[in-house]
Amino acid sequence: MLNEQIDITLSISDKWEAEDLVLRNIVKTFDDRRGGIVYAVNDISLTIQKGEFVTLLGPSGCGKTTTLRLIAGFEDPDRGEIILGRKNINNVPAFERNMPMVFQSYALFPHLSVFENIAYGLKVRKIQADIRKNDVEMALQLVNLIGLENRYPGELSGGQQQRVALARAIVLKPKIILFDEPLSNLDAKLRAQTRIEIKRLRQMLGITAVYVTHDQAEALSLSDRIVLMNKGKIEQIGTPEEIYNKPESLFVADFIGNANFLEAVVEDIGEESVVVSLQDRQVKIVKENTCSGLMEGEEVYLIIKPEAVRIGKNADDFKGKISSKFFLGTSMEYEIEFEDSIITSIQPNSGDLDMSIPAGEEISISFNKNYFQILKKD
Ligand SMILES: Nc1ncnc2c1ncn2[C@@H]1O[C@H](COP(=O)(O)OP(=O)(O)OP(=O)(O)O)[C@@H](O)[C@H]1O
Ligand SMILES: [Mg+2]
Repeated sequence: MLNEQIDITLSISDKWEAEDLVLRNIVKTFDDRRGGIVYAVNDISLTIQKGEFVTLLGPSGCGKTTTLRLIAGFEDPDRGEIILGRKNINNVPAFERNMPMVFQSYALFPHLSVFENIAYGLKVRKIQADIRKNDVEMALQLVNLIGLENRYPGELSGGQQQRVALARAIVLKPKIILFDEPLSNLDAKLRAQTRIEIKRLRQMLGITAVYVTHDQAEALSLSDRIVLMNKGKIEQIGTPEEIYNKPESLFVADFIGNANFLEAVVEDIGEESVVVSLQDRQVKIVKENTCSGLMEGEEVYLIIKPEAVRIGKNADDFKGKISSKFFLGTSMEYEIEFEDSIITSIQPNSGDLDMSIPAGEEISISFNKNYFQILKKD
């Protein structure tokens, strides 16, 4: 089975001509019908290396789909360059770019069978019938759809339809596959399964992919790098760990992992650490978890993720009161009154339900200080 799979992988990826994709100072505006202009993409520069899986993540309207459509050639940039390998492809039409897009809506042809849907792009490219059949069969195997080739899209589940869409992209041996929220229409369980499937395929085939989502879990679990976008601009580019653990702006901290923002004041800036006061305590933060340009006396935010906020009974700790709690299955989320604000703590479910603390209870709070991150207020 494994050998067979390796054979498939080799023959389907042998013509895979992966190349780096560079976006250089891309700007794309639209008229908003009220005489104004919307900057959908506002001066984005980015290099996607061959074989890399890069995710564009960000809130609704931040320019993810527009960026993808610019890469695919469905939109022309107002300014900037799109470079594949060493070649500027600004003027190469979409059908010549060989960068298929997998959509949320699957976009299959309803009157064509699974086989015909997958073969369609090869037929357009005038690939010989016997090679076409061979390639389609390989793609069917890769996405585990053998046996369903004669069905029509209407006779498939959402997950199966999405695998047809994936096979239809893979069979073209594309330079890059573009995904626009491909899992959004699937239920939670199927979404998780298909996520694993995509990860398996990309490991086997070494696909270069640009993947758009607004789902953090998807972005964190699939990507080599995440590009976090906000209002047409890039806020931060980094590995999932960097984006999650070391947000460089308030926007990123807020967007990923529901961070808590604690108000603190910078007391002392040393060679290796910065001391801030939090309530009446002094907290020492290692330099690598602080931003640049801090001044003594400055009011800042101490950022801490809910999983690093611990609830305990130690008398030396900070004081708070549970205002509400939410059972999430794998964890319990507590909302805690802390000074004038509400902070969140997430505790793993250790299987001992009696351990959960009732709302209204006075508690002590400790913070895992290694996870503190200082960010400027503006
Ligand atoms: N054809 C268009 N005409 C006018 N405005 C547009 C057009 N396409 C996109 N926009 C605007 O450009 C901005 C970015 O849109 P885009 O579709 O790229 O966002 P997105 O990040 O994909 O959002 P979502 O998560 O909701 O899909 C939005 O303000 C949107 O209204
Ligand atoms: Mg979109």
